[in-house]
Amino acid sequence: MKRLNFYCVMADKEISWDSLLEKTKTILKEAADREEAMQHICALLHREVPHYDWVGFYMVDPLAEGQLVLGPYVGEPTEHIRIPFGTGICGQAAETRETFIINNVKAESNYLACSPDVESEIVVPIIKGKELIGEIDIDSETKGVMTDSDRKLLEAIARELAELF
Ligand code: SME
Repeated sequence: MKRLNFYCVMADKEISWDSLLEKTKTILKEAADREEAMQHICALLHREVPHYDWVGFYMVDPLAEGQLVLGPYVGEPTEHIRIPFGTGICGQAAETRETFIINNVKAESNYLACSPDVESEIVVPIIKGKELIGEIDIDSETKGVMTDSDRKLLEAIARELAELF
């Protein structure tokens, strides 16, 4: 197994990224279906990582071309149920299929606010082969907290998740 081998220390809490990835794999193995797996992954990340205040999925809508639709999430309800490719951070990540790390959302012109309390965001595409399946979207109410280690963890989770599709 490829190990990530790093820890994140936030708010005096040391989190092993490797153990989070292991727990994710257990969820993927044991959940009854994709929906249930994604809901549990949201709950796990929201509970274990102090700077993750909103954790959710946007999925490519097979019935509406070029649109993302809100999937399972944990956090405050959002008005952004559907997001066209190219719009907001999620839409830009869908268009480019690249991870976006935004450490000051208020400085972004192409950004959709979920809540005025959000300061940072990371969006990680879930890709299977050449197909974009969806995205992991995480908001933080703390400025400047999303780092390359968040990217590594979430990209590893996205790769595992893609296997379910
Ligand atoms: N901030 C995102 C919209 C999704 S909400 O944060 C849940 C964006 O700019 O695409």
